[in-house]
Amino acid sequence: MERHQFLSVIHERYRPRSYLEIGINDGLGLARSRTRTIGVDPDFCITAELACDLELVRATSDDFFARADAISWFPDGVVDFTFIDGLHLFEFVLRDFMNTERLSASTSVVVLDDVLPRSVSEAARHQHTLLWAGDTYKVTAVLERHRPDLTTLLLDTEPTGLLLVLGIDPTNTVLAERYDEIVAEVTTDDPQPVPDDILHRRAAADPRLVAGSPIWGELATARSTGAPAPPVEALRSLRGSAAPR
Ligand SMILES: C[S@@+](CC[C@H](N)C(=O)[O-])C[C@H]1O[C@@H](n2cnc3c(N)ncnc32)[C@H](O)[C@@H]1O
Repeated sequence: MERHQFLSVIHERYRPRSYLEIGINDGLGLARSRTRTIGVDPDFCITAELACDLELVRATSDDFFARADAISWFPDGVVDFTFIDGLHLFEFVLRDFMNTERLSASTSVVVLDDVLPRSVSEAARHQHTLLWAGDTYKVTAVLERHRPDLTTLLLDTEPTGLLLVLGIDPTNTVLAERYDEIVAEVTTDDPQPVPDDILHRRAAADPRLVAGSPIWGELATARSTGAPAPPVEALRSLRGSAAPR
């Protein structure tokens, strides 16, 4: 499954009231949205046909999140669904996740792109390949270690994999408190030590199985009724369900 197809599934089944995309480029990701949307990118050039109620923000994600009124375009003051696909450097991606979670709810859905590089070259911090994933992949292990309360699931999507994050807790400050320590420990010069399990996608889930999960309807129901967020940990059983490469 191609990554934008997976975004479409979430839009159709979870029906977010608000969608935030960090890094929008020509708008192919935004084109999947049918809801109130904010797109953030310092250097976008939209060519895709769009069908959402859109606010475009020409800024870096750090500058966007620093604004007190960053998501005032969303009437409920919360982001239901975020796609993080901006600058593909670990520390930027971690900050994008921390800032997104702060503006989300327990029923929100966060998806990060480029977490399954297909080669060490594609994972380099200094881009020298056409398709570039950078060292974004490191965020998965960091979330699993420092935020075991989150449910993370790697998805075997084309071209460079997605990370689904559920069990969002906007009150959690662990990552912010440990940010400097984590970045100092995790960032290294090229070439990046990409684990074999990442290159061969051994822990990744089959995105079609994840797309077919009843969780999307359950999250949407909890969101609209104000009921507590449903348990999402069962999705972890889909880890490794994709055919290894
Ligand atoms: C891979 S493209 C995004 C593709 C898009 N999400 C899609 O699905 O079609 C990455 C984008 O991130 C943008 N970008 C670079 N640095 C950024 C930053 N600090 N904050 C937000 N976006 C950034 C680039 O300008 C580029 O357009």
